[in-house]
Amino acid sequence: MESLRESARAAAHPERSVLVIFGATGDLNKRKLIPALYHLHVNRRLPEGLLIVGSARSAVSDDDFRRQMREAIERFSRGGIGNEAEWSRFADLLHYIPANYREPDSYLRMKDRLYKLEREHSTEGRRVLYLAIPPDQYAPVARQIAVAGLAGRHQETGGWTRLVVEKPFGTDLDTARQLNRELHEFFDESQIYRIDHYLGKETVQNILVFRFGNAVFEPIWNRRYVDYVQITAAETVGVESRGGYYEQAGALRDMFQNHLLQLVCMTAMEPPAFFAADAVHDEKAKVLHAIRPISPDEAVRGQYGAGEINGKPVPGYRQEEGVDSGSTTETYAALKLWIDNWRWQGVPFYLRSGKRLAKRVTEIAIHFKKPPLSFFQSCAAVDGLGSNVLVMRIQPDEGVSLTFEVKPPGPEVCVNSLSLDFDYEVAFGAAPPEAYETLLVDALRGDSTLFTRQDWVELAWSLLTPLIDAWHKTRSDFIPGYPAGSWGPKEADAFIEKDGHHWRKL
Ligand code: BG6
Repeated sequence: MESLRESARAAAHPERSVLVIFGATGDLNKRKLIPALYHLHVNRRLPEGLLIVGSARSAVSDDDFRRQMREAIERFSRGGIGNEAEWSRFADLLHYIPANYREPDSYLRMKDRLYKLEREHSTEGRRVLYLAIPPDQYAPVARQIAVAGLAGRHQETGGWTRLVVEKPFGTDLDTARQLNRELHEFFDESQIYRIDHYLGKETVQNILVFRFGNAVFEPIWNRRYVDYVQITAAETVGVESRGGYYEQAGALRDMFQNHLLQLVCMTAMEPPAFFAADAVHDEKAKVLHAIRPISPDEAVRGQYGAGEINGKPVPGYRQEEGVDSGSTTETYAALKLWIDNWRWQGVPFYLRSGKRLAKRVTEIAIHFKKPPLSFFQSCAAVDGLGSNVLVMRIQPDEGVSLTFEVKPPGPEVCVNSLSLDFDYEVAFGAAPPEAYETLLVDALRGDSTLFTRQDWVELAWSLLTPLIDAWHKTRSDFIPGYPAGSWGPKEADAFIEKDGHHWRKL
């Protein structure tokens, strides 16, 4: 069966173009972008006539760059290099332009080289410029790109330029607004593609197909039938080598302002008038407009201490490299959101996310109300009946399940919970594609549905900035702790239990 997005994808044919990756020798390109591009190439999903130009400071040749990218694919791509002939066809698409981003002349040299390549490959000035560089460089590099004449339409060919900007997009409302203002000096909103890699995840896109491609769920997707919603994004990893960044960020900035709020929007939004970028963005923005300001009383934070992950001892957050030994940065947060609109009034949305938790799992669980009268006993002799829960598993074990009550065989009339399960890999015979594959193709096709629009990013910051300020600016010495490998601080359990609910055991 063809999904909405697949039919849209088939309809728009990407034109021959150039993808320029700024920061091409950096981690993001090596771990994510190049492996995604290679995978697309092997699966014949890379747009025909695409040229990939890497740019970074080091003065290496095209061949050296190709060698580095080959190593990255060997290390980070799920399928490795595979067939040598495939690799050599891919290597022919790769070029390298050295540039010192602080030096205006570099951009002029880049422009000359780019124009030459564009002429040779007839890409007619159609470019996607991908900023895989440190966030404080987004605005200055975008400015220099524009000053060098690479931002607007190509004078002779009418070719277009798109700018892809990675997260984090600002660090609070003011800095996000400032960055938007700076980018808009040279780029229209329609040229800017802000990345949130969660939106590229197949299972996140599937939320909309699941909700709006089936008639049976939508009538019960509201306050009349839904008791509450739980969204979890749990990780087993710690801060890895990013202690310095994470110290300034914390879980609210790192996971909630972007990924978790995107999941809330996909779950709570109204059906768009039609399936196109602006219509979808409008509905998502309306959800954020309807969210009540978050009170610090409806939020809990925590920080991991030493513990065990998969039977191996791991250090606490304060012992990680680049982290202050007295840090109060949160590595775990849980919130309760209220969406004040007709559909969701009175239905709490519980969100939690943390590092070094017991299991890696991201899911959205819709807990439906119980039947009005309970005729049956639970066979397990627990209090009352279970409620129906619909779980959309974003990762791993991507899929959907619906729990319901059944009577097991036997003379006794009692009920047990069972589930109907859809497992992505079993159904389709393969794991879903990596998020960056989808996002790269969409940017090349000019489809911004899965990117973040300016108003959304600012609204998301305006919701979270007051809580971030309350937590970070009034730094207290105390932050609840939790051992690595657990499910977070005990304060988070008490937080949800006072409403008569429990965090799902995953
Ligand atoms: C990133 C955060 O945006 O998302 C990381 O900066 C986090 O800290 C990552 O680990 C999680 O992404 P995923 O795809 O592994 O769930």
